[in-house]
Amino acid sequence: MEQRLAIYPGSFDPVTNGHVDILTRACGLFDRVIVAVAENIGKNALFSSDERVALLKEVFEDDEGVEVCAFTGLLIDYARERGARAIVRGLRAVADFEYEFQLALMNRSLAGELDTIFLMTAQKNFYVSSSLVKEVARFGGDVSGFVPRSVGQAMAAKLSQAEG
Ligand code: PNS
Repeated sequence: MEQRLAIYPGSFDPVTNGHVDILTRACGLFDRVIVAVAENIGKNALFSSDERVALLKEVFEDDEGVEVCAFTGLLIDYARERGARAIVRGLRAVADFEYEFQLALMNRSLAGELDTIFLMTAQKNFYVSSSLVKEVARFGGDVSGFVPRSVGQAMAAKLSQAEG
């Protein structure tokens, strides 16, 4: 039987509890979900794409329906190559909407067969973003409530490396 396959793309620099929540919800809707890590995300990246992939793999090692891969180029090309039927994106506050709306419509005009499905994270993750978490960590704040434990440890190691 044909598997229902979705793609969950993002920068994941790093993966947060919000991402984990969205992916868990997506796994309930699809047979398999490919977490697609965008390789080129600019100069402000804390983790390399290999490191971001490794962190995600560690977090989802027990989830058989989850595959983690890096991709370059257009998302729709990668989604088509992998045979995905839908793109999953998380929506938090209204502030996300404008950008997500543009992205979804651009992707749909480039690949009409691909629909974007928006999922909402649990309320406790509404304000959690990779960039805010990085800022909190950079100034020595406690990020343990916002990211998986292994990610918090990797961030601490990375930031102390940068200081030393
Ligand atoms: O986690 P992010 O940074 O919000 O993810 C954005 C991402 C990686 C999904 C988006 O920038 C993307 O799809 N990049 C790949 C290039 C592409 O296809 N751009 C969209 C054309 S409109």
